[in-house]
Amino acid sequence: MTTSLDETRVAAFGEQLVGAYVGGMVTMMVDLASRTGLLDALAGGPGTSAEVAARAGLAERYVRECLGALVTAGVVAYDPATRQYTLPAEHAVLLTGPGSVNMAPISRFIALLGVHVPAVADAFRTGGGVPYEAYRPGFTEVMDGLSRGLMDGQLLDGILPLTGELPARLADGVRVAEVGCGTGHALNLMARAYPRSSFTGYDLAEDAIGLARAEAADWGLTNVSFEVLDVARLPGEPPCTAVFAFDAIHDQADPAGVLARVRAALEPGGWFVMMDIKAASALEDNVGNPLAPWLYAISTLHCMTVSLAQGGAGLGTVWGEQLARQMLDEAGFVDVSVHDVPDDPFDSVYVARTPT
Ligand SMILES: C[S@@+](CC[C@H](N)C(=O)[O-])C[C@H]1O[C@@H](n2cnc3c(N)ncnc32)[C@H](O)[C@@H]1O
Repeated sequence: MTTSLDETRVAAFGEQLVGAYVGGMVTMMVDLASRTGLLDALAGGPGTSAEVAARAGLAERYVRECLGALVTAGVVAYDPATRQYTLPAEHAVLLTGPGSVNMAPISRFIALLGVHVPAVADAFRTGGGVPYEAYRPGFTEVMDGLSRGLMDGQLLDGILPLTGELPARLADGVRVAEVGCGTGHALNLMARAYPRSSFTGYDLAEDAIGLARAEAADWGLTNVSFEVLDVARLPGEPPCTAVFAFDAIHDQADPAGVLARVRAALEPGGWFVMMDIKAASALEDNVGNPLAPWLYAISTLHCMTVSLAQGGAGLGTVWGEQLARQMLDEAGFVDVSVHDVPDDPFDSVYVARTPT
């Protein structure tokens, strides 16, 4: 039997594939231009490749080649008459600066995860997964870069107000924990803003906890501490008024167990504030979500495999709102509400309470 191909569809799919491959490469050029300071230098004003390279302290030949990619990708503008490159202000706002709208840190995932493709391919054949440790210390740095700007821009004024009266309780002085705190920036920001409350952050990653402690010391904070701990053993005493988890539930080996420990660590009427990936649980409901391929890929190459490496649930990045609500319910939380995160299309904030 011969299959007749629709040549128009073949050509269209070829174009689609090329677009995806080009996008991957452009992403790595944004990563390079961001981490070398090239984008910051360009944001300072137009210049030739030599001028921009001198401004950034970089080798001109590399700068020119990278700018070739960024110009042809439509990221940077180029005037052949003056040989000057310009980063349009509308692009600079999304690629430079300390705030939550800077998308440049997201570009780092391709280089971070790409090196693990062969190991993940082995896991496809043999089961199991690639352990969390294999991703460090690179993962710690990339994750910090991803969440730091968002927390600086949105934690105190965008995320905490979603919790109703919790900010007032924090101001009065309560006990707070964070599971999977990474480099601890969110907790340090809260500890600085609410000096009457006491904060404890837990993470498995020693390098991340070291950075969290260093920032707390640098800021002179005495109401925050960080411990290396598997949050599957989160202590239930003394009880907390609030527990936070920022992108730290879906890659757990035992997410249901951790939710149960969080529930047990909270006093009656306590808050569990869980920021996690914004998606639906069913694949068919994610078709048409432009971010969904990126999310499933991150899951395959990191979040799911690190869980499976421990013989875990392998929930994955795209566990989605329906399953998240179900698991919060099964863990005994009530009054669950789900909110968008300002400046962050990737996440939702779940505000859950313990029964009074
Ligand atoms: C996606 S990162 C998020 C880090 C941080 N909350 C942020 O937003 O930057 C997930 C964090 O959870 C930590 N983690 C994963 N499983 C853990 C466990 N069982 N106990 C403690 N930490 C864990 C990882 O080491 C990692 O730092």
